[in-house]
Amino acid sequence: MSASSFSTNTPPAGLAFDLAASSYDETFTSSLIGRTQRNSVWSVLQNTFRAGDTVLELNCGTGEDALQLARMGVTVLACDASSEMVDIARRRAGFLQPQSSIGVIHLPTERVHELEAGMFDGVFSNFSGLNCIEDLPATAAALSRLVKPESQLLLCFSTRFCITEILYFLSIGRWRKAFRRCSGRTVAIINQHTFAVYYPTLRQLKAAFHPYFKLRLCVGIGVTVPPSYLEGWARRHPRVFEVLCRLESFVASLPGVRNFGDHILLRFERVSHVEA
Ligand SMILES: C[S@@+](CC[C@H](N)C(=O)[O-])C[C@H]1O[C@@H](n2cnc3c(N)ncnc32)[C@H](O)[C@@H]1O
Repeated sequence: MSASSFSTNTPPAGLAFDLAASSYDETFTSSLIGRTQRNSVWSVLQNTFRAGDTVLELNCGTGEDALQLARMGVTVLACDASSEMVDIARRRAGFLQPQSSIGVIHLPTERVHELEAGMFDGVFSNFSGLNCIEDLPATAAALSRLVKPESQLLLCFSTRFCITEILYFLSIGRWRKAFRRCSGRTVAIINQHTFAVYYPTLRQLKAAFHPYFKLRLCVGIGVTVPPSYLEGWARRHPRVFEVLCRLESFVASLPGVRNFGDHILLRFERVSHVEA
């Protein structure tokens, strides 16, 4: 599939991420916190897809997860709304996995319905790309046509209530920032480009994917491990950070607690009939 097969009306988030793309790996992918949170996602990824599967990756960023999927023997079609992110992902895939089957295309999630129906064994979206989508039910409907029966969707969202974020900003007297996610919608700014970010609750996410997909697994990501903007703090307090990382594995699956991390990782299964 070639990138030129698709026309792209780049959404505002894609244009904003164009400006963040060149520093994204340094500031997030390679950071202590980014690495730790991603490893937690990968431990679920490992048990979700298997060698021989073909997976659609939404909002792939610089391709870190596409490379991991390729190492697992999975064929990946990775998409993103930022052409700069796509360029980096394509270069990395070509350099690090030249024999692998990673395709990277510039395609906003709002246009996935343009892809061929019934082509994928699963869908993966990591680290909040889907928080940039206003109409999640429409995305769920589009994905339901793209995947085979019983396929898995593994989707990682920013949560509405992140306890470490609330406590941190309260502790430095930034009240509004502490509760910025709680209304369910914020406007993010990257180098003067603004875009809307949505923070659906778990109940809203289940409803958005109903009736095509049924929630099968729910894991907190970054429950005791803080958000990535606290990287400086984590580096200055390596022992405390290590304790938080250990705690994470105990609390990440606890009902109630798992909803209050930085992210939440959901595994949905394509169902052909509505289950109770
Ligand atoms: C926080 S980054 C995560 C990137 C990558 N998944 C990762 O794990 O590092 C969010 C990504 O979502 C992409 N994105 C935002 N809105 C999008 C949309 N409407 N369609 C596709 N990608 C989008 C951005 O360009 C960016 O690459």
